[in-house]
Amino acid sequence: MCGIVGYIGNRNSQEILIDGLRKLEYRGYDSAGLAVYTENGLQIKKAQGRLAILESQLMEAPLSGTAGIGHTRWATHGKPSDVNSHPHTDNSLKFSVVHNGIIENYMALKEELTAKGHNFVSETDTEVISHLIASLYDGDIVKAVQKAISRMTGAFALGVLTDYEPDKLVAVRVASPLIIGVGEGENFIGSDIPAILEYTRNVFILNDGEMAVLTRNAVELMTLEGNFIAREMFYVDWDIVTAEKAGFEHFMLKEIHEQPKAYRDTMTSRISSEGDRVTLQEIGMTPDEIRAINRIHIVACGTAYHAGLVGKYVIEKLARISVETDVASEYRYRSPIITKETLVIVVSQSGETADTLAALREAKRCGARVLAITNVVGSSVAREADDVITTWAGLEIAVASTKAYTSQLIAFYLLGLHLAQTLDTQTPAYIAEVITALKELPAQVERVLEQADQIKEFADEISTHNDLFFIGRGLDYAVALEGSLKLKEISYIHSEAYAAGELKHGTLALIQEGIPVIALGTQHELMEKTISNIKEVKARGAHVLGIGVEGEDELQKAVDTIFNIPRTLDLLAPALSVISLQLLSYYASLARGNDVDKPRNLAKSVTVE
Ligand code: F6R
Repeated sequence: MCGIVGYIGNRNSQEILIDGLRKLEYRGYDSAGLAVYTENGLQIKKAQGRLAILESQLMEAPLSGTAGIGHTRWATHGKPSDVNSHPHTDNSLKFSVVHNGIIENYMALKEELTAKGHNFVSETDTEVISHLIASLYDGDIVKAVQKAISRMTGAFALGVLTDYEPDKLVAVRVASPLIIGVGEGENFIGSDIPAILEYTRNVFILNDGEMAVLTRNAVELMTLEGNFIAREMFYVDWDIVTAEKAGFEHFMLKEIHEQPKAYRDTMTSRISSEGDRVTLQEIGMTPDEIRAINRIHIVACGTAYHAGLVGKYVIEKLARISVETDVASEYRYRSPIITKETLVIVVSQSGETADTLAALREAKRCGARVLAITNVVGSSVAREADDVITTWAGLEIAVASTKAYTSQLIAFYLLGLHLAQTLDTQTPAYIAEVITALKELPAQVERVLEQADQIKEFADEISTHNDLFFIGRGLDYAVALEGSLKLKEISYIHSEAYAAGELKHGTLALIQEGIPVIALGTQHELMEKTISNIKEVKARGAHVLGIGVEGEDELQKAVDTIFNIPRTLDLLAPALSVISLQLLSYYASLARGNDVDKPRNLAKSVTVE
């Protein structure tokens, strides 16, 4: 959801800002812009469309100066257009603002400012901020920004410049993420670390409700009321190459191939050297506190929600605690029954998703203990939860989540085992059996990846269709939902995922000659029933791709084409079957000539509700 960068130093800022925006493009890419202090004062250049369009305009007419701010947009208020692009300014053209988030009361502020003579040119909420700051300025930009913030409600990360004080860059974080990079004679702001990592590894992570004033030689952190804050600098020890494609055509393909490593990294240090127990030291709950849990709520959005659906099966099976999985944007509004005995598990790759964060806060308000499963150390979700299981998937850049999802599955397996050990709901022998099977997964994922060509053939075939179905029962249904989402988001093929037994209660009417159906059949106990459902769709002309398990002849006989995953426990099959569906979406998107890593209308991190 929008990315912002800022630079103040001695180098040419245009290059640094564009470079930062390139790293942030995954957050939004429907327009981009820069504001730079030049010898002629603050100059703005912005353009609808991908960053490359702005870049080509800047090649013809560069903005030369050593301080500036930049923005890459994912439209919320106002369609993508040149005029709605950031940075925004006021009528005096002396103030310039980049913004990530939403100003909820912008209409009221706009009316008030319009009555005072301000003219607005865009449909955005952000333009109001630049006018508001201009109207409150009396010689001190920090005070003007503070006064403006006190009038604004919503979520916002801001970068602010004024022509009147060209040696200052003001940054604000209210709900939306923002980090400060500290260099030698130069300082930076960015929506996330990769935006500035090429220039510095020393970072301050702003907390919610904090701001920073950057000059060339100093960074001052303060509360929104102006009280100074002392904070230790965070040293980033991971490398920029993790943010590059490393020879793969797309980030998504690279990230799909990184899954064996992500599995190993997420599980290795959490399994005892004897391989018979899970040790989740990061969970601070005592055995008595775990025994007191009477229900679990898993709350997340999108792909992370689908991981939560698998998590429900896993925890209920292993730990015998009742689990509900909720979409975060619905959770708060359905008056969920949350007590001190409820464990709320929030799942978020980015750790910044606004709906998930709001659900976390609601859960804490009601007295629940909150456990986060997140991929970003130091993210808002990680900081606000009571306990955190970090998924060590590494930086995920492609908008379509792959390795973060599967690492979330691994986290749920570990958590389920941890709870089962504490509650004695499974025998030590069964726990050891699951752990052995877990440790085999990374090598098994590699075997699935080696057979990508088989999947590609089927992907090429479905790429000419406009509709298709995924069906499955039990855990296969949870994976079908994720497969369908992945396909929709990057190939734009309409698909629906159905619990296989539910299809005949209405949707079967849509099955007709030649329609592709992807049937997941990895759950042994449910195989017979799944095969009956496959026969129902085949009888109506569907062309069925089965995702089965090596050595299972029954499924193979029932479908037109089969793709087999290596043999594992039914409980762990999602961690293998979903890889084939990720590949299917990837190749279908490729066959349709889509931009795989940056699908239309989407953004990697959704920090608005
Ligand atoms: C889809 C996808 C999204 C995210 C969702 C939640 O591939 O990536 O559905 O899963 O926006 O994001 P996080 O996990 O960052 O909270």
